[in-house]
Amino acid sequence: MTSSPALTYHVTPGGALRGHVRVPGDKSISHRAIMLGSIAQGVTEVSGFLEGEDCLATLAAFRALGVRIEQTGPGKVVIHGVGLHGLKAPAAPLDLGNSGTSMRLLAGLLCGQPFDVTLTGDASLSRRPMKRVTGPLARMGAHIEATPQGTAPLALLGGQPLSGIDYTLPVASAQVKSALLLAGLYAHGRSCVTEPAPTRDHTERMLRGFGCAVEQNGATVCVTGGGELRATPIAVPADISSAAFFMVGASIAAGSDVTLDHVGINPTRIGVINILRLMGADITLHNERAVGGEPVADIRVRARRLHGIRIPEDQVPLAIDEFPALFIAAACAEGETVLTGAHELRVKESDRIQVMADGLARMGIAARPTADGIVIQGGVLGGGEIDSHGDHRIAMAFAMVALCARDAVTINDCANVNTSFPGFVELARGAGLQVASSK
Ligand code: S3P
Repeated sequence: MTSSPALTYHVTPGGALRGHVRVPGDKSISHRAIMLGSIAQGVTEVSGFLEGEDCLATLAAFRALGVRIEQTGPGKVVIHGVGLHGLKAPAAPLDLGNSGTSMRLLAGLLCGQPFDVTLTGDASLSRRPMKRVTGPLARMGAHIEATPQGTAPLALLGGQPLSGIDYTLPVASAQVKSALLLAGLYAHGRSCVTEPAPTRDHTERMLRGFGCAVEQNGATVCVTGGGELRATPIAVPADISSAAFFMVGASIAAGSDVTLDHVGINPTRIGVINILRLMGADITLHNERAVGGEPVADIRVRARRLHGIRIPEDQVPLAIDEFPALFIAAACAEGETVLTGAHELRVKESDRIQVMADGLARMGIAARPTADGIVIQGGVLGGGEIDSHGDHRIAMAFAMVALCARDAVTINDCANVNTSFPGFVELARGAGLQVASSK
C-alpha cells in the first residue's frame, strides 16, 4: 500500500479558477459504505465511491475478510454482504496503508470477531496514536496488542466477548466514536459514546440507513448489540474536504468564479464554509438537496479579498481536515489569523501545524506555531521548495498557493495525494490552476 515518495508538483504563479468542478467522492462516507455493506445482509450498491488509496485499502481489507466486492465501473461498487457474523479470518495482516480511518474503525469492527487479525500501516500511520481507540475497546472486553508507544501494528485477539460501555471521549474524534459504535454492534447490551463537541456523524446516519436503531440524546449516541444490518443503496456525494482546496483557491485568486458540484454539506463538515465566510469569502449554496440521508449542494465561490480572524474553537472539529487549505487562505488574507484548540492537527498524517508553519515561513510568511494552533500574518507569498512530508492535504494546500504567490513553487513528496484525491492535478489544471507534476 505504500506510494512512491518521488512525485513532485510544480506550480506557476497566476491563473484563476473558473467553471464547474466535480471533486471525487467523500472519503469518510466511502470507507463506511464498504464497512457497513460488508457486514449487512444482502447486496449494497454504492455509487460515487472514492477510488483513492485509503478507501481502496478498506475495500481490500474486506475482500481479505472474505467479502465479495465488485468494482463495476467508475465509482461503482457492489458489495455482497456477509452479515454481522459472516467475516472470515484473513490469511495475512491487513495493510491499511496511510489510512487512519481504516485502522481505527476496523479496530472497533474487528475486535469482537471470533478470529485473530493484525492491522498494519505505512510509516505515517504507524506513528499515529491508537490508544484513544484501543483503551476504550479494552474496557468493552477487547484484547488488542499495540507497540509500547500505543501505535500500530495492532494485533486483535479473536473470541473476546464484548459488553457495552458508557464512554466520554477525551478528544472530539469521529474515528474513535465510530470505532466504539461499530464494536457496539457486537457487544452485549448498549454502548454509548458522549462527545465533547460535535464531530462528523456519517456512521450514525449510515447505520440508520442500514436499519440499525441508533439513539441520539444530546451529545450522546448509543447502539445496542445483537441486531442486524440490511443492505441499502448508497450514493456518495463529492468530498467537501477535497472541495475545500478549490474554495480557498477561488477565494484568493482575482477573477475566480467556480462552482463545486454535488458536494456533501453535512452540518458536521461545514466548518470550512463557516470559517471562510467569517474571513469575508463569497460562498453561496445552490440546489440544496438530500441524497441518501446526507445533505448535498452546489457550492459557488467567487474571489473576494479575505481578512484575518480569530477562528472560533467550536468550528475546529467541523473543519478538522481543512486547516492546511485554510492556512493558505490566512497567508493570503489581510491581517492576522489565530487558531487555537486544534492540537489534534499535530497527530494527523503529518504534524500539520509544524509542517504548514515551516512551508509558509519558507515562502516569507510570518507563521508562528503554538501548542494547539498557529498565528499567521497575511502577506506576500514568495516562492520556493516545500516539503509536504507525504501528507496529501499539505501537498494540495500548497498547490493552491500558485493563485496568490509571486514566484514558482515546487512541492515535494506528493504521491499520497492519491490517498484522497486521485486526478487532482488534472482536475485543478482544468479549472485554471497552473500546476504540473513530475516523477
Ligand atoms: C475521519 C475523522 C477525522 C478526520 C479523518 C476522517 C472519519 O479524524 O480527520 O480524516 O472518517 O471519521 P478524527 O475523528 O480522529 O479527528
